[in-house]
Amino acid sequence: METQIGNIKFSHPIFNASGPACTTLEELEIIGKSESSAIMMKTCSLEPREWNPEPRYKEVPLGSINSMGLPNLWYKKYVEFSHILKEKYKKPVIASVVWFCSTQACNNDFEIIVKAFQEDSLVDLIEVNLSCPNVVGKPQIAYDFETSDTILSLVENLWNKDIGIKLPPYFDPSHTNAMSEVIKKHPQVKFITCINSVGNTLIIDPETEQPIIKPKWGFGGLGGEYVKPIALANVRAFYKNLWESVKIIGAWGILNWIDVYEFLLAWASAVQLGTTFAKEGPEAFARIKKEFENYLEKKWKKSLDEVIGKLKEL
Ligand code: SIN
Repeated sequence: METQIGNIKFSHPIFNASGPACTTLEELEIIGKSESSAIMMKTCSLEPREWNPEPRYKEVPLGSINSMGLPNLWYKKYVEFSHILKEKYKKPVIASVVWFCSTQACNNDFEIIVKAFQEDSLVDLIEVNLSCPNVVGKPQIAYDFETSDTILSLVENLWNKDIGIKLPPYFDPSHTNAMSEVIKKHPQVKFITCINSVGNTLIIDPETEQPIIKPKWGFGGLGGEYVKPIALANVRAFYKNLWESVKIIGAWGILNWIDVYEFLLAWASAVQLGTTFAKEGPEAFARIKKEFENYLEKKWKKSLDEVIGKLKEL
């Protein structure tokens, strides 16, 4: 069940997404105690951020819609938490960082955060979130290839921890190709997470005749089963462009072992639980891990190398 992202080994491929219930130390300790193979912390910024107004998260039949707004306690707290979590739980701890501004004047801000995680924290990996759709007035950076390139130039080579990028869904090969070209220019990018929620979707309650969440006029990030095929296609498309130079983490729509299996066949090396963790709590990690382990045993698979990327073309 062992897998690897950059130089970091994971005991199995299932851990939490930087999304639900990973903002406070108390929440992160719950993940630490669970069978999640890593502790992914909430995306953090240079200053603390409040939650978007409620209602901001709703479960719907095939998933969830959210507009949390990247609430976080500020980056220094997560640098501090990384020491506590690493000491206590002895598994990979991953930082997730964000940057809100695309003018030259703010570039230093982003460097400050990544530098702090590189130099002062015990995190194993740093995920740069270029894809949150829920901050009013801020576009999803990874749809702008030039700005993404500039940011990666700023945050690579600040020290020796591997970095990765959390990407939004792309819907056309010209876009996955353009982002792949950006990634190829930055060798310290050792992993990508495919995908963040499908941004700016709208779900209407016909009874109340209103959107079901409040922020951004009801426009939020869609996750869960609805978006699994999009996530799988993004994993596969990036694999075909980048081959083995970059590891891929799959996200959204992982309800059971079958979903894990599909993501790994497409070439994900690990998967993150978002909606399923929010719905089911930390027991979800143990359940899906056990199911997946049983299946591998039944199929006589000795390691994940016999699964990862083994999708058969028709
Ligand atoms: C949020 O905090 O709004 C969700 C996290 C994300 O989209 O990156």
